[in-house]
Amino acid sequence: MIKIGHRGLAGIAPENTKISFIKAIEYGLDMVELDIQLTKDRELIVFHDYNLQRIAGIDRRVEDMTLKELKEVDVGSFFDIKFSDQRILTLEEVIRLLRGNLKINIEIKINRKEARFISDKLIAILDREDFQDQVIISSFDHKMIKYIKSLSPTIKTVILVSSLTIKPIELINSAAADGIHPHHLVITENFVREIKKKGFFINTWTVNDKQEFKRLSELGVDGIMSDYPYFF
Ligand code: G3P
Ligand code: MG
Repeated sequence: MIKIGHRGLAGIAPENTKISFIKAIEYGLDMVELDIQLTKDRELIVFHDYNLQRIAGIDRRVEDMTLKELKEVDVGSFFDIKFSDQRILTLEEVIRLLRGNLKINIEIKINRKEARFISDKLIAILDREDFQDQVIISSFDHKMIKYIKSLSPTIKTVILVSSLTIKPIELINSAAADGIHPHHLVITENFVREIKKKGFFINTWTVNDKQEFKRLSELGVDGIMSDYPYFF
């Protein structure tokens, strides 16, 4: 079972920041999950929310800001003032930081209007960085997952699901994906058995409770995402 830090290691340091990724390396995790979005000047950055309000107290949308403007924003103080130097990173910056240390689960945030551009750009970056075999690509936008597979048949892709799914195998197949990342409350013994029987993999999120962590480990999921390194 692999251990995946959620948004870097969001319980230990501000989510999706350099310090959060460094903590994930220090704790010896196998992989980190992060979220990507497009800026106004069409760069891919690592940030979860569509708006800067929760993290930086600024009521502006990421898609309306340039990379230069976003780089000025303090994305660490909301967590602890000692992290006030933390800035938003580009995807390339994170790849270069994590290369040789951690694999990455790249979650593409939903953006129907720019889905193709984001997918094309993501694959181009991964090619340029020679990093395709170090990632799992996920999204709640299953059409985008299917499109990514058409661009790169060998890249690992998964569909994200947040609620009870009656026919998970059909969903995985219709997105031509390699696996599924369900919310942990969706997971039952039968669910895991069905997915594994078909040869797909299953990683779950976001598990911040020790008993739930134990339940899921015993059910045999392939990986568990957490904000905390509970498993140590
Ligand atoms: O990728 C799993 C999980 O991160 C999905 O939800 O909102 O935390 O990005 P969210
Ligand atoms: Mg995410």
